[in-house]
Amino acid sequence: MKSTARSVRALKGVRPVVCLTAYDTPTARMAAEGGADLILVGDSLGNVVLGLPDTVGVTMDMMVHHTAAVTRTIQDRLVVADLPFGVAHEGFSKLLGCCRRLLQEGGAQAVKIEGGATLAKSVARLVDAGIPVMGHVGLLPQRSRAKGFRKQGLTPEDQARLLEDARSIASAGVFSMVVECVEASFMPTITAAVPVPTIGIGSGKGCDGQIIVIHDLLGLTPVPPPFVRPEARLHRSGVAAIRRWARKVRSRSSR
Ligand code: KIV
Repeated sequence: MKSTARSVRALKGVRPVVCLTAYDTPTARMAAEGGADLILVGDSLGNVVLGLPDTVGVTMDMMVHHTAAVTRTIQDRLVVADLPFGVAHEGFSKLLGCCRRLLQEGGAQAVKIEGGATLAKSVARLVDAGIPVMGHVGLLPQRSRAKGFRKQGLTPEDQARLLEDARSIASAGVFSMVVECVEASFMPTITAAVPVPTIGIGSGKGCDGQIIVIHDLLGLTPVPPPFVRPEARLHRSGVAAIRRWARKVRSRSSR
C-alpha cells in the first residue's frame, strides 16, 4: 500500500486517513504493518522518547537522525518530519535549509510546520520550492510554554481565528493539516472549510482522519493524554516479561 502526499490529499471525502507517529525502526515497522497511511516523525520525539519535558529542546540534528531511522526502515509509506521549535520563525532561507536537511539527509517526503495564518507565506514558498507541507493548527505544543495546553475553539473569536488559520495554510498549499485539541462540535466546520484532509488529535470525530502518538496508542506512556484510549498495554506486558526472565536468571533456569 504505497502512499504519497498526493495520495493522502486525494483521500479527502473518500475514506478516513490513518496517521501515526514513529521515531525509530521498531515503531516505524509497527506503524507500517498496522496500516498507517502517513507516518509522522513528530517532535513529540522529545518528550516521548528522549526524556525531555516538552518538544522545545528537540533540535534539527535529533530530527534528522530519527527521520533517517524511519525512512531507512519504511520505503512505501509517506514519512513526514516535524520542523523543530523556532525554525519556521527564523527567516525563509533558514527554514528552507532545515527542510532540505529533513528531505535530503533524513529521507522524509514531506515536512510538518506548526502555525497558521502568520506562516502562510513561508508555506507557499516551500510548496513552490517543491516541498510537500503538512500544516498544524489548533493547539501548538511548540508554543505551550507561552500559551499552555488548553482546548481550542471554545469562543466565537477563537473559532474565527482557527478558521482563518486553517483556510490560510490550505490556500498556501498544504496537502493536509493536523488539527490539535479543537472543540469537537466545531471540528466539522473546519473540515468543511478546507479542501485538504483535516487530521485530528483530541479534536473528536469531525475530521478527515486521525493521528496519535504511537507510544500512547500502545500503552507505553505512563500517563497518556485524556482523549487517548490505548489499544495495548505494552509497558505492563514488557515489565511482566522482564520479571519472568529475571526470576529464571536468578533461579539459574535461563540459558
Ligand atoms: O509531534 C507530534 O507527534 C505531533 C502529533 C501529535 C500531531 O505533532
